[in-house]
Amino acid sequence: MYYEFFCPTKIMAGHAALEHLPFELETLGVKRPMLVTSPNAHKNFINHTFDSTQSQIVCTFDQVPADSSLETVQQVAQLYRQHHCDAILAVGGGSVIDTAKAANILVSEGGNDLLVYSGAHNLPKALKPLLVIPTTSGTGSEVTMVTVVANNNTKIAFASRYLMPNATILDARMTQTLPAHLTALTAMDALTHAIEAYTCLAANPISDAYATAAIQKISTHLFKVLENPKDLDARLELAQAATMAGIAFSNSMVGLVHALGHALGAVAHLPHGLCMSLFLPYVLEYNQSSRIADLLLPLAGAEIYAQTPVEHRAEQTINTLFAIRDRLFEQTQLPRTLRETQKVSKSQFEEIAEKALNDGSIIYNPKETSLDDLYQILEKVW
Ligand SMILES: [Fe+2]
Repeated sequence: MYYEFFCPTKIMAGHAALEHLPFELETLGVKRPMLVTSPNAHKNFINHTFDSTQSQIVCTFDQVPADSSLETVQQVAQLYRQHHCDAILAVGGGSVIDTAKAANILVSEGGNDLLVYSGAHNLPKALKPLLVIPTTSGTGSEVTMVTVVANNNTKIAFASRYLMPNATILDARMTQTLPAHLTALTAMDALTHAIEAYTCLAANPISDAYATAAIQKISTHLFKVLENPKDLDARLELAQAATMAGIAFSNSMVGLVHALGHALGAVAHLPHGLCMSLFLPYVLEYNQSSRIADLLLPLAGAEIYAQTPVEHRAEQTINTLFAIRDRLFEQTQLPRTLRETQKVSKSQFEEIAEKALNDGSIIYNPKETSLDDLYQILEKVW
């Protein structure tokens, strides 16, 4: 056995963590930060930071769309250069963070041709300082070495240790206005990161520790947040869980849920977190990994774990996930089947299955998967 574990991102978390931003910029030697954000996240940032902090920001790009693209990345880089900035502060969800990471490649390496750096480990040196303040608790992009950018109808991935942000601030005030359905689907993304990190072939003891802790936090606190969206303690728990799940899968891998989810997202244009929620229990049923049983403890708690005979624990883990999805459907109308999304037709199964089979995430899935297996899973999720 051999594995590596690497997370150089400094994490500042707490109910007044945002107040550490000026100090953190100073520590990184930043004099001219650029803010990259989306309209809603920008509003949040203005509401929860001091004027003195805001005045440090040299320029702002606040128009990152939900599905960012190469053009957006180039616009961000252009504005950065016009204002001679020396660092990027990303405030937003997955799309904002990924845009900031990709723009950082352009402004650090020079030129406008992002595609020459695509793939794994194609960056020669450290980039400009990148500080991230997430406004969703899901992607984990604040601690991962990956970014994905859309170009025409394809998604281009970049992976490099230099894409890992220098620092991230987790402050529940930044997620407290996240609507219920977005809270639910981003949490299901984080939960999937943790579960796939634990069950995939690249799992290791350190990523396991982060993964199980993240699962326990999400199962304990997600419904508290949905019942009381202003519960800042529970919001902070979810934020930490998403970051921990990000650290887990970034140092392990993901699996078939992500392979199918990427494919479905590309074909039917559904949000990533929703795609995760749709496939998660069905893929676990298919995988039958021996490690699924372990997850009953963090997912359902000590009492249920102890009451469940060893041979039923895997099944009970999966049942618990089905129950979570039923509750999310009741509370936020998060679809549970492909049919319930009203955005997918069976005629798209072929395209989804083929795309999933060619997705990099499938490589570390604990069970080898054929095209026929994928059709069977899609039929079940229908
Ligand atoms: Fe994900």
